[in-house]
Amino acid sequence: MQEPSSPAATLAADPTVELARDVAEGLARRPKQVPAKYLYDALGSRLFEAICELPWYTITRGECALLSAHAEAIMRGPGACDTVVELGCGSGAKLSMLLSAVEGRPTDVHLVDISETALAQSVQALSRHRGALLTTHQAAYEAGLGAALQRAGGAGRALVLFLGSNIGNLSSEEADRFLSEIRSRCRPGDRLLLGADLVKPEAALVAAYDDPLGVTAAFNRNLLVRLNRELDADFDLDLFEHRVLWNAGASRIEVHLESLADQLVCVRGAGCCVDVAEGERIWTESVYKYEPEGIVALGARAGFARRAQWIEPESRFALTLFEREP
Ligand code: AVJ
Repeated sequence: MQEPSSPAATLAADPTVELARDVAEGLARRPKQVPAKYLYDALGSRLFEAICELPWYTITRGECALLSAHAEAIMRGPGACDTVVELGCGSGAKLSMLLSAVEGRPTDVHLVDISETALAQSVQALSRHRGALLTTHQAAYEAGLGAALQRAGGAGRALVLFLGSNIGNLSSEEADRFLSEIRSRCRPGDRLLLGADLVKPEAALVAAYDDPLGVTAAFNRNLLVRLNRELDADFDLDLFEHRVLWNAGASRIEVHLESLADQLVCVRGAGCCVDVAEGERIWTESVYKYEPEGIVALGARAGFARRAQWIEPESRFALTLFEREP
């Protein structure tokens, strides 16, 4: 039963209502758009895992190479951390590489993810680590981080992980806001490990998001399958094409669904019908690419000093370790 007392809370608590609202709002905009977070339903999450295995998608391999090479430097040495928080824990594989460097050392590990499946998968992947005390937070990043970092007064340093170039989905303003938010929840001396993909030649960038096997196209078009199922929409899958553009000025990949005909699409669960013209696009994702100095500057604007930056040369992926300044 739902309490009528707080309509805002009631609305936000029902994921389908939130989806309906966001889709109605996004399709009313010019250009039409749907937030990228909705790409990750059960099938979308599986397709993303498949993307990570594609030869053209180098983020995961590049980052894992860096994590395994520098786990000791990140986890040991002066100012080592006894609390680790991963924002968007995925499968837990990356955190597992880091925990291997401190096997047996008591470490409070907090996993933050909106996906219950991701949390369960991570707990399974991490339970073998002796000394790791696992806590899960099924929550958005900010809320989960707040809960995770409510530490007792005398506790040691915390390390916050934001990996996989998830920062890439945020615009510059959103990234600034998000890092400031992380900083405000940290104490001086706490650390942030940020994984971010770097700018590279256009052909390589486009191939990573428009792969020859069509896996990324399926990942993108699955959004329509989801809206048809969850919002009783009538998107015709045959009439939307995966379209990927590199916007050099904005330093971002733009992912769209392009209409192959003039058509009317109805999303009954969102209470709207929209005309879509031939060639018109629904914008589903932006993926920002960074320069190494740009990542350092991003941290600095939020009050984080660079402690180390490692770059994997083949994939052009950067892992940057920051420390919160006093
Ligand atoms: C999960 C946001 C890091 O931008 O590379 C992969 C998502 N989209 N292929 C990325 C994605 C299409 C991915 N991130």
